Amino acid sequence: MSILNIKTNYMTSSVYNCSVLPLTKIHNNSGNITIVENGTHIPFDIKRVYYLYDIPGGESRGGHAHRDLHQLIIAASGSFDVILDDGINKKVVTLNRPHYGLYIIPGIWRELVEFSSGAICLVLASDVYNEDDYIRDYKEFLSYTKRL
Ligand code: TYD
Repeated sequence: MSILNIKTNYMTSSVYNCSVLPLTKIHNNSGNITIVENGTHIPFDIKRVYYLYDIPGGESRGGHAHRDLHQLIIAASGSFDVILDDGINKKVVTLNRPHYGLYIIPGIWRELVEFSSGAICLVLASDVYNEDDYIRDYKEFLSYTKRL
């Protein structure tokens, strides 16, 4: 059994197990650099990186949950809100600093809203893209979490 599976098994899919992690920031007069390395800074190995940008004002993204995927979401530029929902509790997290990342465990419904102009949402993910890992129907999500 992989480390990821062990983590998923003992970690309840609660919004309270999703947290904002401080990332390394090296500051100097010519600008800042933030580093994320496998095994050191976040609780999963990164297999995929993608980013959302050019998001029109008023648009929302997400609106789904993942069965097994772990993600770290970073506002690489600008700001946006992430609404987390475990089927019982909801939590809203504002991301607006590139040296913080929101760790989302599997089994959490998420919606990304209130994007500022020019916002860039950087996502580090524990696996490659797999549509079968998505739950895109909210009722299906509730029954998946056995809370319908
Ligand atoms: P989706 O994950 O639904 O976007 P968001 O959560 O940001 O609203 O993905 C949008 C589309 O892009 C969907 O057709 C699947 C595709 N896609 C890929 O092909 N590969 C990927 O790694 C991702 C994240 C999305």
